[in-house]
Amino acid sequence: METIEEFKKAYSITEQDIENLMSVKGLMEKHQDDFIAKFYDFILKFKDTPQFLSDNEIVSRHKEKVKWWFLTLFEGNYNEEYLRHLSKVGEVHVKIGLPCHYVNASMNFIRRYCIKALTEEFGCSTHRDALINSVDKVIDLNLDAMTISYREEELRTYILPRRFEYNLIEFAKRFAFTVDLLLLFALMISSLFVLGFVGHEVYSIGIGETPVETGILKILGTLLMIWAIGELLSAEIHHLRGGKFAVTAFLTLAIAAVIRKILIATLSTEKIADILTLGGIVLALGIVYWLIGHSEKA
Ligand code: HEM
Repeated sequence: METIEEFKKAYSITEQDIENLMSVKGLMEKHQDDFIAKFYDFILKFKDTPQFLSDNEIVSRHKEKVKWWFLTLFEGNYNEEYLRHLSKVGEVHVKIGLPCHYVNASMNFIRRYCIKALTEEFGCSTHRDALINSVDKVIDLNLDAMTISYREEELRTYILPRRFEYNLIEFAKRFAFTVDLLLLFALMISSLFVLGFVGHEVYSIGIGETPVETGILKILGTLLMIWAIGELLSAEIHHLRGGKFAVTAFLTLAIAAVIRKILIATLSTEKIADILTLGGIVLALGIVYWLIGHSEKA
């Protein structure tokens, strides 16, 4: 799935748009009860709505959630979490079998509702036009993100019973998320261990066990590892927030590990051929790093 930045780029959402949307949050808050009442009048006209909003409990839960969603349009926090939430809403709609056509039509109603509210407040002015432009963009982004699951559903062929397969995929997604969290935890622990190495080296220099020159080079090599682990941690956090995983973070770690080995090797009586081999490995990893970076930019 695309990142929120890619979505923003696709819909040309600028800082000015975000400012515009946030500037009418108060106005939309005033309208929220009227909005939900009219939204419900609208969706109750669909033939099969009672089938989905089948009892009072579901209706009141849905009303609260839609109201909350409506206000998030004007909060300006369009980040990975926001995107994840939109795709979750889409998944819930797909799971209950809600026709995509209902969502598209409802979104059209919401767009018209916002335009009417802005016109009543600001009249037919250029300021109103700029606000409508920003509202249009964020609504289009929402519709796109909320209907991804419908598009995925069309492409999906079911081997197992539909409901069972859906739940299995949901479980696998949560499992993958847990594995990512464990990886994050393991990386944090590793960085603490590496910090321990630095402490040990400083201690060795202090008590005269390691010559200062050797010790400093070893510390530098270890700090390089900490920096690489930090890169990996940032990549993992980015991934957990919904971004693509950066393979280059692993390459950075591998390059740092080999450079550390070279630093240590130059201090010992290691054969020059071994050091040259390590240099070759760094060069090869560097070329792969450059190629990946280059292909991502292209
Ligand atoms: C643009 C229009 C819509 C928006 C923004 C919207 C928003 C939401 C949200 C935020 C949720 C909660 C998802 C979650 O649990 O994380 C939800 C669930 C749901 N939506 Fe919608 N919805 C829309 C249209 C509709 C329509 C037209 C129907 C029915 C005719 C519908 C029926 C439902 C139902 C039945 C649920 C599950 C409620 C529950 O059991 O908690 N939605 N929707």
